[in-house]
Amino acid sequence: MKRLHHKEIKNIFVYPTKSKAAKASAKFIASLVLKKPRATVIYATGNTQIPVYSELGNLVKKKKADFSSTRALHLDEYYPCTPDKDFSFVGYLRKYVFGPLKIKRENIFEIDGCADNAHKEAKRYEGLVNRFPSSLTILGIGPGGHIGFNEPGSSFKSKTRLITLSKETLKRDRVERGQSSPDRALTLGIGTILESEKIVLNAFGERHGKYLDRALSGKINISCPASAIRLVGDGVTLFLDEEAARQISSLE
Ligand code: GLP
Repeated sequence: MKRLHHKEIKNIFVYPTKSKAAKASAKFIASLVLKKPRATVIYATGNTQIPVYSELGNLVKKKKADFSSTRALHLDEYYPCTPDKDFSFVGYLRKYVFGPLKIKRENIFEIDGCADNAHKEAKRYEGLVNRFPSSLTILGIGPGGHIGFNEPGSSFKSKTRLITLSKETLKRDRVERGQSSPDRALTLGIGTILESEKIVLNAFGERHGKYLDRALSGKINISCPASAIRLVGDGVTLFLDEEAARQISSLE
């Protein structure tokens, strides 16, 4: 493990491989939850997080992690979307997180991607995040440096809302998530995310490293949503593999 430095973000840990980085991230998340058993955790989805959640599942099996008293919320969901769709984030979370981490049903709060009124649903979910402030938000990074589904141009004060996905995101989705994934989504806002007590961001591989390079090496600006994490200072911890870290010119 290597610790790298950035002028605003102190906690950046780099591992030789994706698998090692994912295991370290899982260990870190598990230790935060052991210190705060009733934590509210907000989960990201995406391929990046699969090895992290799989390791958390292993730690739960070995009784080295315990999520049984935690509350689970999540970042985003396609709209309109039912949980049985391959691309559904709720479907993903049920499979990789809620089940394996043995989170109690009454402590799981899902975004309803098939709500009749998306704006009402966004308001309801924002209300939930206010009622249960996040102890830890797990982030990935996507096209254009999006976090959750906050696309470039999203205000750093934005709240949970319906958003139209960018061309870049749609291009990725058509390749990775099939032809029929929707072009809109419900997402927590950047303002909502920044209120979290702690943030863990995982980024592995060259592509995610390039997204992060814009976020960390350019200006803090709404044209790159993930640049907002530089406003959080010590509250944010990055787990990277070497391949991702190599892309980021502002790390020392
Ligand atoms: C998604 C999600 C993000 C996620 C990102 C990266 O669409 N909205 O929360 O971090 O894209 O996904 P992946 O790890 O599959 O590249």
